[in-house]
Amino acid sequence: MWQAAGVLSVAVAHDLADRLRSAGYSYDAVAERLGAEGLDGLARNATIPADRALAGARDPQVTLIRAFALQQDVPAAALTAALGDLEPLAPILAGGTDADTVRAAIEIRPYAFTDDHGEHSGWLASDLTPTLDGRLAEPRDDFVLGLSPASVTLAQLTMRNPRARALDLGAGCGIQSLHLATHIDHVVATDLNPRACTMTALTAALNGIDVDVRQGSLYQPVEGERFDLIVTNPPYVMSPPDASRLVYREGSFTADGLVRAVVTGAAAHLNPGGALQVLGNWAITVDQPWQDRLAGWIAPTGCDALVLQRERLDPFEYIEIWLADAGLVGTPDYAVRYAEWADYFEALGIVGVGLGWLTLYNTGHAQPEVRFDDWPHQVHAGLGDAFAEFPDAARAARLPDDTLLGTAWTLDPAVTSEALGRPGAADPEHLVFRRGTGFSRAVEVDTALAAVTGACDGDLPLGVLIDAVADLLDADAAALREDLLPRLRPLLADGYLRRVTGL
Ligand SMILES: C[S@@+](CC[C@H](N)C(=O)[O-])C[C@H]1O[C@@H](n2cnc3c(N)ncnc32)[C@H](O)[C@@H]1O
Repeated sequence: MWQAAGVLSVAVAHDLADRLRSAGYSYDAVAERLGAEGLDGLARNATIPADRALAGARDPQVTLIRAFALQQDVPAAALTAALGDLEPLAPILAGGTDADTVRAAIEIRPYAFTDDHGEHSGWLASDLTPTLDGRLAEPRDDFVLGLSPASVTLAQLTMRNPRARALDLGAGCGIQSLHLATHIDHVVATDLNPRACTMTALTAALNGIDVDVRQGSLYQPVEGERFDLIVTNPPYVMSPPDASRLVYREGSFTADGLVRAVVTGAAAHLNPGGALQVLGNWAITVDQPWQDRLAGWIAPTGCDALVLQRERLDPFEYIEIWLADAGLVGTPDYAVRYAEWADYFEALGIVGVGLGWLTLYNTGHAQPEVRFDDWPHQVHAGLGDAFAEFPDAARAARLPDDTLLGTAWTLDPAVTSEALGRPGAADPEHLVFRRGTGFSRAVEVDTALAAVTGACDGDLPLGVLIDAVADLLDADAAALREDLLPRLRPLLADGYLRRVTGL
């Protein structure tokens, strides 16, 4: 197993965690000390709000915040007072500007999260943020990214039911492994970058969790192994093949080839019932809808799949975002790199970039269910259940009419109805059912559909409910069934209605 060695031994990391906690360098204690503004500033890579919150204070907690979060020099004596003998910690420290000061060589960030399995608090080990406080600095080639919006998104969409084995592919600082350890018996973390393996091992050791860390590309370190869950936020940035590609965000593939390799390689590594969850970018080319491009990757796997495109950027917006991420804004290289990148996209016929979420399910069905949604809308936190319900919901929506009608369905308790219309009007112009969880889907319903759906409480079969509503509305029951069934199927596919009995 990969050790935190090269950085710290596991025993030293455990001891460091104890000292960090007792000195108040835990998420809640730091949040209290810095206040919301200080904390929010750090999330924007601005240390000044936090620095002002600490002005004049000197105690072990302040020393640790200054050293490990604000990247400031601290007196060696003060750090010794906080952490004890600094000698074993030498691999994560560097000399400060003055002889009697030291500074952190890596970031150790307090990190807390809540999931279905409780509240968790610990730390993430990563490289220091190079662009803190607007500094112009390019990251080192083997830079290991810490907490990022993308890591949080992937953690939010991961299915959190307990499983035996999971793979965190492209583990980086180990954030996904930390989340996986709350509900997975055995977590394997892989990364191409040896420095990332070291950081993941250190994160694991600081948090007292077991992670089987392995170095190598894509699925190579897990050849012949299968998992119940694979999660990955791979280096999906599509950039020209020059020497300046950064391992934390760019692979060595052309265009979206790395994301494609993650998807196409998954089936051979998923146990029956297993799933792959990927945060990715894909090329939108002039000659092909994005759905067709991704369908071509997914079809050979034989898996069910739910793909949500969250955003579509034009090539120039995309290039600008990633040039800024690389710290190139304001440098002489900027215009040259911009032009190279734009030429690269043009040569590949790339007219846009899709950003989104792919989930593949190894359900083993002969007829895979594959769905593509353009879904830029706001979603609820904690999407695991929304992804988990997809394969069953998609199949429920395709049941024969007789089965649909003979089944007692239950309306998701988180569905609310919204009536829209002019103030004072006798009847609403629009009636909308909205799911208050997951993807926050909404559907317009009419009186009959609302009455039938609203009556679905898992007691009476759908056919009986439709007949009763037909009676109430003085409508023909057979005609109402014919009218409602095609409109009820999307409600099943979107999880408004769930199966309770009868199948
Ligand atoms: C965007 S970071 C994601 C880190 C972390 N999983 C998270 O959620 O924040 C992508 C990671 O993939 C790693 N990586 C790059 N190329 C890879 C490859 N071919 N195989 C496996 N990992 C790779 C990088 O070193 C980096 O740590």
